[in-house]
Amino acid sequence: MVSIAVNKGRENVAMLGIGAYRPTRLVSNDEVCEVLDSTDQWIFERSGIRNRRWISGDETVRTIAVAAAERAIASSGIDRAEIGTVILATGTWPYKTPHGAPSIAYDLGINGVAAFDLESGCGGFCYGLGVGADLIRAGSAKYVLLIGVETMSVGMDPHDRGTAFIFGDGAGAVVIGPSEENGISPTVWGSDGENALAISQNYDILAYEDRAEELQGTDPATDPVGRMVIRMEGPRVFRWAAVTLPRALSTALEVSGVSKDELEVFIPHQANARINELMKKNLGLADEIPMANDVENTGNTSAASIPLAIEEMLVTGKAKGGQTALLLGFGAGLSYAGQVVTLPPAPKEPSF
Ligand code: UT7
Repeated sequence: MVSIAVNKGRENVAMLGIGAYRPTRLVSNDEVCEVLDSTDQWIFERSGIRNRRWISGDETVRTIAVAAAERAIASSGIDRAEIGTVILATGTWPYKTPHGAPSIAYDLGINGVAAFDLESGCGGFCYGLGVGADLIRAGSAKYVLLIGVETMSVGMDPHDRGTAFIFGDGAGAVVIGPSEENGISPTVWGSDGENALAISQNYDILAYEDRAEELQGTDPATDPVGRMVIRMEGPRVFRWAAVTLPRALSTALEVSGVSKDELEVFIPHQANARINELMKKNLGLADEIPMANDVENTGNTSAASIPLAIEEMLVTGKAKGGQTALLLGFGAGLSYAGQVVTLPPAPKEPSF
């Protein structure tokens, strides 16, 4: 048998720099309720959201991803020519083909690198962090650029009480690379396909396959299946979260070797401030431990929510680079992923 070469990587990896982009248009609850049958008070009490940002003008999923990535690269101090892999965590890149990461790499002036999209709903950023860290540990990459980006406002029904008030747009990115001390714990992740339809799109790709011949040559814009929109059975997700996530959080602490007392910051996915308060309480974290609450003015930006929340805490001084934080992303799939990490330094160019 021939001997086949094995890569050797670096054991200790960390987030070396972070950057974010928040669309300029701020949309208040009152503005959402001009169309949606709801109220500012209901939205704030049930979700903790006051405002969200939606793209406008020239902003697209592509431009905001590139803007966040540029800031992350500048903050990391890494020469972009050293980045060998781009991972785009998103559920709202508008095409199945081509996927987005190669175009983003091209826009960033690093055409030619390994580039792929990763789809795992709102857990996407933490899935990407696990994959990116492991690529470096395995020696498949030295520096990885991970971007979480969403334009949730594009595939959203403004009349839908289950989604229209909750989702926002934004992008956050990190450069992951070798470091002296390890800054990314093993990933704790999982999924529950039995509850898959709790968050789903009305566009059924299998139905399209069944109707392939009928649809050949027709204009998708006039297809009776209509525009793709996202639907969420919020209470069903809430119930799943209440059972699954406390276990995930405890396991993340366990595998990281970091105790509750050593933890300095808690940065869960920004879906609902009530879910996050409950998780913090159930985990038994001390009141003084700061917890991200970017959802209040950014809404739920799915795969972008965790890097945006990290950035907000670093920029406002609620958290500092070098502190030990617990991250947990969760949502569509249903799926989740979490890690204990060392926070990167505050960005050189903040997003607000
Ligand atoms: O990011 C991916 C992961 N997603 C999540 O983690 C989301 C998890 N779920 C949630 O955050 C919450 O379920 C929501 C914020 C989406 C909804 O809050 P809820 O407390 O679960 O509300 P509900 O759907 O149980 O509805 C409660 C009441 C109902 O009225 P009755 O039956 O009590 O009279 C609804 O008809 O509120 C009514 N309602 C609304 N009222 C005003 C439902 N949606 C609305 C609305 N505005 N938008």
